[in-house]
Amino acid sequence: MGVEIQVEGLTKSFGRQVIWQDVSLTLPAGEISVMLGPSGTGKSVFLKTLVGLLKPDSGSITIQGKDLTRLRESDLYAVRKLFGVLFQDGALFGSMSLYDNIAFPLREHTKKSEKEVRDIVLAKMDMVGLLGNEKKLPGEISGGMRKRAGLARALVLDPEIILFDEPDSGLDPVRTAYLNQLIVDLNAAIEATFLIVTHDVNTARTVPDNIGLLYHRHLAMFGPREMLLSSEEPVVRQFLNAQRQGPIGMAEEKDADELAQEEAEGHELPPLPPIPLQLSTSDGGSRATQREAGAWCRDNNVTPPPGSFEGENAAASPRQARARAEQRPPGAERPPASAVHPSAAAEQPVAAEEPQAPGSHPPATDGTALGANGHSAAITTPIESLQPANRWRSQARGGPR
Ligand SMILES: Nc1ncnc2c1ncn2[C@@H]1O[C@H](COP(=O)(O)OP(=O)(O)OP(=O)(O)O)[C@@H](O)[C@H]1O
Ligand SMILES: [Mg+2]
Repeated sequence: MGVEIQVEGLTKSFGRQVIWQDVSLTLPAGEISVMLGPSGTGKSVFLKTLVGLLKPDSGSITIQGKDLTRLRESDLYAVRKLFGVLFQDGALFGSMSLYDNIAFPLREHTKKSEKEVRDIVLAKMDMVGLLGNEKKLPGEISGGMRKRAGLARALVLDPEIILFDEPDSGLDPVRTAYLNQLIVDLNAAIEATFLIVTHDVNTARTVPDNIGLLYHRHLAMFGPREMLLSSEEPVVRQFLNAQRQGPIGMAEEKDADELAQEEAEGHELPPLPPIPLQLSTSDGGSRATQREAGAWCRDNNVTPPPGSFEGENAAASPRQARARAEQRPPGAERPPASAVHPSAAAEQPVAAEEPQAPGSHPPATDGTALGANGHSAAITTPIESLQPANRWRSQARGGPR
């Protein structure tokens, strides 16, 4: 049932460029976590470091009692089998058919017969709605189909840990809704540990059990979904509510003058929106690690924003939950069952691409919080990030003037 990943004091730089430092968090076994952060803050680098493709400067990554950062290449190879990874660019081999791309990890890492490989590949292609496209090359299919092929490839080894780098980028909103449903259903079915990097705020608000935010070369916060969605911390609040006001600017940090002007103009942050319910599985069942809605807020004496978990957000019947997942009013007709596979609708092939190489609610002082399910979800408070916005001013380019 998935495995826990403990990251402790992880730091990564390229030459003199520090990407992030002192990142500590625990990805609880069998739970879905989402990592957010402005573009260029090192989310993809974080995923590649977790899977051992990049070596951190310092810190540890512990899985099943082994520190990945200290393993020899040959031992790392074995640990990598625990992972299924969907890279940001899909990383499909441009000259191989979809079938061969998806079969690749099985042929590389197992001694399965071609018959066994075929059964698994076709089952996974069916799961992501790609059956019938076995012979196509990556350049002959749409961006959304490529994403799903990468997803199928990430799943063939029945991984314990699944890392998805922006599985939803380049997908239309309906397919994003289907993909999110697929992720929740997968998590309920195989109980793997998921870490998803996304820029989609709706995904971040409804899919995960935990949310993290990388900002300004640090992990600003990591913890249960309800903790971040009720947080008044300016960076977290700005990001999770997709607002322009706040410390994050176009170039990640706002210029000191810009922030000062916002303050002088008395820009008030809009109130926190209600916390939505988590996305249910498509059959209305619960996840293995399901937390009761509002439990984290209740256990931590945090008043959630008005309207949370009620009205539109109210505990949905399975039918309502399904309707929401499919983005249609509950009374409206259901799409045909085949549409559960995103490919059922026509996806136009795109021009061939270059082949791709393979409130403030400060957390507990001990840095951990217990989720309602008793899991310890690390909350990272390494920095400045949990302090008021003006903290950023002194650090903004040029400093205060
Ligand atoms: N192999 C590498 N060598 C040198 N620098 C790198 C390497 N990989 C990434 N970087 C740098 O690390 C920083 C973080 O990159 P990364 O791709 O992780 O960002 P990201 O948060 O995933 O951004 P996005 O949301 O746009 O995908 C960037 O400045 C990038 O140039
Ligand atoms: Mg990235």
